[in-house]
Amino acid sequence: PMLSRRSFLHGSAAIGGAFALGAGLSARAGAAPERQMLTAQTAETQIAAEGTSPVMTYALGQAPHSGMPPTLRMRKGETFAARLVNRLDEPTTVHWHGLRIANAMDGVPELTQPYVYPDDHFDYVFTPPDAGTFWYHPHCNTLTQMGRGLTGVLVVENPEDPEFDGEIVLNLRDWRLGAGGKFIAPFKPRDAARGGTYGTVRTANWQREPIYDAPAGGLVRVRIAATDVTRIYTLGLEGANAKVIALDGNSVERPFLLQRYDLGPGQRLDLVLRMPESEGAEVTLGNFRGSQPWTIAGFRSVGASLKRDLGDVTPLPANTIAEADLSTAKRIPIDLTATAEHKSMPSICGSLGYTFWALNKVPWSGDTPDPIAPIEELKLGESYVLEIANRTPHAHPIHLHGLSFRILRSNKRRVLPPPTDTILLLPDERAELALVADNAGAWVIHCHIIEHQKTGMTGYFKVV
Ligand code: C2O
Ligand code: CU
Repeated sequence: PMLSRRSFLHGSAAIGGAFALGAGLSARAGAAPERQMLTAQTAETQIAAEGTSPVMTYALGQAPHSGMPPTLRMRKGETFAARLVNRLDEPTTVHWHGLRIANAMDGVPELTQPYVYPDDHFDYVFTPPDAGTFWYHPHCNTLTQMGRGLTGVLVVENPEDPEFDGEIVLNLRDWRLGAGGKFIAPFKPRDAARGGTYGTVRTANWQREPIYDAPAGGLVRVRIAATDVTRIYTLGLEGANAKVIALDGNSVERPFLLQRYDLGPGQRLDLVLRMPESEGAEVTLGNFRGSQPWTIAGFRSVGASLKRDLGDVTPLPANTIAEADLSTAKRIPIDLTATAEHKSMPSICGSLGYTFWALNKVPWSGDTPDPIAPIEELKLGESYVLEIANRTPHAHPIHLHGLSFRILRSNKRRVLPPPTDTILLLPDERAELALVADNAGAWVIHCHIIEHQKTGMTGYFKVV
């Protein structure tokens, strides 16, 4: 095997661990939604091998923070309500990445809601229309707030999903930590103008190479979210086979065996992992990008074999996403470019002080006091094709809020994924993205390499 193994095991880590199905938060059918408290706060948590780190995290309800933000569980078609309470010493908001919900709940300061200032709160209430694996994070001073830990996985359950023998949620991200676990500068300008600045400590669920117990011979659903501000993963497994059943929350029509799969910041991948039969056998999830593969997390078979078979894996029920009418669709070019004007932009919410990138030649950091004009005004209910072109030598995970799109064609890929909210645009990739503008409001589109987003690679559409 190419991947190293840790010499000791973490206990079957409670957080996001196996056998967690149905745990956590889910609204009960028929009942009015109970409003949860979601508190953004600081905490001292061990991330690096030495020392503790002053992270930012979320806590749910009365429970004390566990270090990492809780995995939020809700149910497709059922109302979810949470009060964000800000116990940080700077403004924040919550964006529910990938959920096609009302614009007023989207969490973008200045554009969709006011800033939530320290000791203030904001009530979010929405009904997720799609099932799948999503995530949540602030949309304010994001390089710092997300870099310090404000990223949680969000699971929208579908009672019609097939049953699995276990479920493991993995939140993958890095940390920029130096000696004693203290945070170092969140970015280097030189790297922000290229692929982005990498962290120094790599984790899954805030742990370095955690190992999870899972039933021997069982079919285990692994929900993976790439929430790092920079890193693009190339995922692969050693020690077992797995099928990819969903990408970015949407079901894969024909589940396929995982070989290597690129997952950019903001993206999600759902696997069905077939655990080895023999008790104690280990499976390793690794990152195979670059020349030195490394271990992300491990899974260890426990108990007598359940003797399940990957051949039994059926597609998940699909979310209902409108198909664009290509005969009427208006075409909108979107060019991703680097820009040379290294000027700072006014922002109350975390300007990085540089402008390196632009969408259609217009740089915007996303939360300046006066937003720029929309890239385009879209008519509610009409179809559009975004002709997106990456005119840079770097990959950019481009995320669109509030609307899902289908990749119609691309000069860089043969197999097209299901509809998505985030496309990892490869260097020099040109793709056509089809969508129906079926959700009214101002919807941000930006690179999810946060340094790119915050130095200009942001814009928005207005659906009216
Ligand atoms: Cu994941 Cu604009 O967000
Ligand atoms: Cu980018």
